[in-house]
Amino acid sequence: MIRVLVTGAQGQLGQALQQEAVRHKTMEWHFQGRHDLDLLDAEMVDRMVRFLRPDVIINTAAYTAVDKAEEASSEAFALNRDAVGNLARSATEVDAKLVHLSTDYVYDNGQVTPYLESDPVRPASIYASSKLAGEELIIQSSPGHVVIRTSWLYGPVNHNFLKTMIRLGRERAELNVVFDQVGTPTCTTDLAEALAGLLVQGASDPKKMEAFNGIYNFSNEGVCSWYDFAVAIMRLRQLSCRVIPIRSAAFPTPAKRPAYSVMDKGRIKNQFGIPIAHWRDALERCLRENPGI
Ligand SMILES: NC(=O)c1ccc[n+]([C@@H]2O[C@H](COP(=O)([O-])OP(=O)(O)OC[C@H]3O[C@@H](n4cnc5c(N)ncnc54)[C@H](OP(=O)(O)O)[C@@H]3O)[C@@H](O)[C@H]2O)c1
Repeated sequence: MIRVLVTGAQGQLGQALQQEAVRHKTMEWHFQGRHDLDLLDAEMVDRMVRFLRPDVIINTAAYTAVDKAEEASSEAFALNRDAVGNLARSATEVDAKLVHLSTDYVYDNGQVTPYLESDPVRPASIYASSKLAGEELIIQSSPGHVVIRTSWLYGPVNHNFLKTMIRLGRERAELNVVFDQVGTPTCTTDLAEALAGLLVQGASDPKKMEAFNGIYNFSNEGVCSWYDFAVAIMRLRQLSCRVIPIRSAAFPTPAKRPAYSVMDKGRIKNQFGIPIAHWRDALERCLRENPGI
């Protein structure tokens, strides 16, 4: 039975993994939130990792406040780079595989065709730079570790675009949303299911676990702008709020976001045969399964 330690258990992906874990009783899951496992406390992390001796550590904890990071660079780097480097070292020492979550925002190199994992990176914000720095420490620490770059995460818990749109859609008659940033939304349930699926494959076949290494892209399928995503949310929730497409220049934010951020999921699909839902189907299912949002 493989033993899995999940950090950031109260985050949106952490909670989706807790739900997913219920379906995978053949794995021994340990979920730790910030209070029980503070990644900024390297000694605490090392103690926990040595005590549990997990086979796999899924690190969902991160500094995720993209705009705030522009003014809080040291906090972002402390968690997204330094703490990740410490965690990778502790994992390597007990021979655990670290599966770390990163972001599509690391690419941003100006190309307008879907990003491959091997494409050049050019992070344009503090958040993206700090996430890339964390990735680099992981890959240096062990070639067996894994980085999953994902994008536009949303789900039924915590703060995200889906929940903000539904709240504003109920409060307002119209809403401006940018249409010149395109990418792919990712439902946390789908990402959690894919992560668990990868571990199931790895648990039944050590060669697959060994081959599960390096960088992988994962999002739902398809492409849309934030405007398209907002329109789909309003329609599916039958909210009459009119969504107006605007350019990013009309809605300046402290952190620069990529205009094009679509990822190619070929590597993860070809290697593991994971099915990936189209973003509209994933959104529809998320809203159907969570009528309370
Ligand atoms: N959200 C997105 O759109 C998006 C897009 C691409 C990639 N990602 C990446 O995907 C991963 C999961 O994102 P998410 O949306 O699930 O993030 P999230 O909801 O913000 O959760 C992050 C979790 O990390 C915890 N945390 C903060 N500081 C910590 C510390 N010192 N020690 C331990 N835990 C700490 C937070 O705890 P508190 O709740 O107590 O603060 C929170 O529960 C992250 O690596 C993120 O960078 C996210």
